[in-house]
Amino acid sequence: MRPWPRDVIALGGDYNPEQWPREVWDEDVALMQRAGVTFVSLGIFSWSWLEPKDGSFEFDWLDDILGRLHRGGIAVDLATGTASPPAWFSLAHPEALPVDREGHRMWPGSRQAWCPSSTVFTRHATRLAQEMATRYHDHPALALWHVSNEYGCHNTPCYCDTCAHAFREWLLRRYRDLEALNEAWGTAFWSQRYVDWDHVLPPRLTPTFANPTQVLDYQRFQSDALLAQYLAERDVLHSLSPGVPVTTNFMTQTGFRRLDYHRWAPEQDVVSTDHYLVTRHHDVAAELSFAGDLTRGLARGRPWMLMEHSTSAVNWQPVNPAKGAGQLVRDSLTHVAHGADTIGFFQWRASRAGSEKYHSAMVPHAGADTEVFRQVCRLGQIAARLGELVGSTVQADVALLWDYEASWTVAGPAVPSNRVDYADVALQVHGALRDLGVAADVVHPGADLTAYRLVVVPTLQLVRNEHAAAIHAAAEAGAHVLVTYLSGIVDEHDHIRLGGYPGAFRELLGVRVEEFRPLLEGQSRALDDSSRALLWTEDLDTTTATPVVRYADTGRPALTRNDIGAGSAWYLSYLPERDQLAALVASLLDLAKVAPPVAAPSGVELVRRARDERTWLFAINHTDQPQELPVTGHDLVADTAVTGVLALAPGAVAVVREA
Ligand code: GLA
Ligand code: ZN
Repeated sequence: MRPWPRDVIALGGDYNPEQWPREVWDEDVALMQRAGVTFVSLGIFSWSWLEPKDGSFEFDWLDDILGRLHRGGIAVDLATGTASPPAWFSLAHPEALPVDREGHRMWPGSRQAWCPSSTVFTRHATRLAQEMATRYHDHPALALWHVSNEYGCHNTPCYCDTCAHAFREWLLRRYRDLEALNEAWGTAFWSQRYVDWDHVLPPRLTPTFANPTQVLDYQRFQSDALLAQYLAERDVLHSLSPGVPVTTNFMTQTGFRRLDYHRWAPEQDVVSTDHYLVTRHHDVAAELSFAGDLTRGLARGRPWMLMEHSTSAVNWQPVNPAKGAGQLVRDSLTHVAHGADTIGFFQWRASRAGSEKYHSAMVPHAGADTEVFRQVCRLGQIAARLGELVGSTVQADVALLWDYEASWTVAGPAVPSNRVDYADVALQVHGALRDLGVAADVVHPGADLTAYRLVVVPTLQLVRNEHAAAIHAAAEAGAHVLVTYLSGIVDEHDHIRLGGYPGAFRELLGVRVEEFRPLLEGQSRALDDSSRALLWTEDLDTTTATPVVRYADTGRPALTRNDIGAGSAWYLSYLPERDQLAALVASLLDLAKVAPPVAAPSGVELVRRARDERTWLFAINHTDQPQELPVTGHDLVADTAVTGVLALAPGAVAVVREA
């Protein structure tokens, strides 16, 4: 497989030349060169231009632009073009349009209007992928293949009859016989027992709560159905275009959890992702860092591609704030700090029509004489200097577990508190680590945990036996483990683990919980360390653990510690206030003997990338004050020597090749 990127931190973005006349194409290539753009993603939404009629293909325009880009020295991440089928497809095959939970069939006219289980769609998409691969597999501009776009962004879950049929086949493979399905779904409840496979349906709109295991399996099935669509195209590309890496862009924003990316990631030749700042997050910059660590976890530590982010505002939030001064460069380099070797944007040139005309771009509506374009050019110069760190990786002593299936049960029907969001504690613990300058790997519960000194297990409501056992083994081998509320509660079928919560972790933690006491909006509970518990509390007793903090009203344990083997296991039965959580994280780091790479002021994010014997320290000043750090080397951002003290202006980033 050819590596991507080769010797530069790649810079580029989605390029949609079909929206522009040819004069603009010439200007585009010239401006790309001026900005230091090294790649573009081409053809993502071009299906109706590539195949305007069923089976008749038009490639002249694509030949033309590929030639121009190649002559301009711009590499191409070439899409198979299958992200959105043309109107003729939907009108000829209305059964391939997705259906919502209430039974409404969608119409064409936006994008991604296709059912995840549609084999008609597979046939047409793989035919286009085949045409593309046949024509372009040896094109000199081709650097990698981009299959579809953001699978599942709009078209899952689909509840149509095709999905119902495919769901039954998926279930048959999973359970083999109906009694096993009845057992797994707990159908003894509410008269839900099945006696015929044909009676099994998607969890469509029901009078009240649908069967939670049915809902869970449906999410697994939809993720697998879309993955199968990806694999069908990928396999065509691998066979007709061997050696060229294939990817599809994930969405690792913590709010997008419709696909189980842990099952998708091993099928990518290079993991790529899109990331947008969602204003509802308490701390958008912290969420960005988390998503970077999650993407690196999906890539199993290897460098990954930031396929898309925005130069400034997006267009799909209720209010879309523009980015602040310096943020374009800072956000981009933060992704690189967390392991990206590619910086991509949506999109190259801001559209003049269509639903995304108010979305920022590398070339804004006002043209190249703009602050955004100047910042893009500045980023191009920096990216060129960062080439030496291509292929380097981040080493972390802390693992934070993240699991899409567990997130599905947290958000499942009829849970103890709808106020609990799967990402809450994970983001807060990660944010506390980041404030302390400590890097974390965000990994699947099945990841190898042996090298970590601190393992954080936030709200892992669903956990498999083998993963619980591996976490236990990590503690015995000397890791310090922090488990939070709503972990270990159910097995892979979403059945309660009996005998007291937190089920799978009772022995590891040396505690037993009889009842949850989730808090209402505005409620909190006093603790004996004079802080307060928010959101969630429990009635907890210790078996072998020692109480560290107690609920002030009942005097029962709230935070506990259990020494085990060479390590320890801590249980946090409530959501602490921010400062308290930060203090707990700091004390666990001391215990685990994990320190930041250099002593940094609070609010300066530090990540070290390393390759062979060389190291590069990323320092990102998230405060509004100048900061200083003890570092020696060469700052590749400012292109200056750093001798003993690195001075960072408010909001600035440095990437220091350490001496
Ligand atoms: C996603 C899509 C792009 C574009 C952007 C807008 O990332 O992949 O096509 O719609 O969102 O933010
Ligand atoms: Zn469907």
